[in-house]
Amino acid sequence: MMDISEPSTRRGFLDWLIAACSSVAGAALVIPGLVYLWPAAKGGAAENVEVEGASDMSPGQARTIQIAGKAVIVVRKRSEYRAFLAACTHLGCLVTWDSSRNEFLCPCHAAVFDENGEVVSGPPPSPLPRYQIKEVGGKVYVSAA
Ligand code: FES
Repeated sequence: MMDISEPSTRRGFLDWLIAACSSVAGAALVIPGLVYLWPAAKGGAAENVEVEGASDMSPGQARTIQIAGKAVIVVRKRSEYRAFLAACTHLGCLVTWDSSRNEFLCPCHAAVFDENGEVVSGPPPSPLPRYQIKEVGGKVYVSAA
């Protein structure tokens, strides 16, 4: 004798399987989009990111940190700190700090920025964007201006 409940059980299982696979596929498509649209989820908050070990930096020394997924160079100048976006304003190459020259250098088209982020030479159309520094309780924090 044929069991009439078997097709509906099998059909129910297939419906459930299709719904589960659709949910997983949907999540796989939506979650990366949300992470892309919400940069803070990748690189942390844009406000008050601590510069780890800032007090150990010697004058003239620089350290690169991440703020909201962007590279930021923090430079210690005697007792003060300065922070700039590490992306060149020409085409976005990463700049480096040259402590012997007190300048930021872009390797892509030989641009030079002074210690205040101002363009000294090369094709960049504008200075390096500057970040705000806060010193609280012996710790150094950087935030977007
Ligand atoms: S990208 Fe820096 S000078 Fe062109």
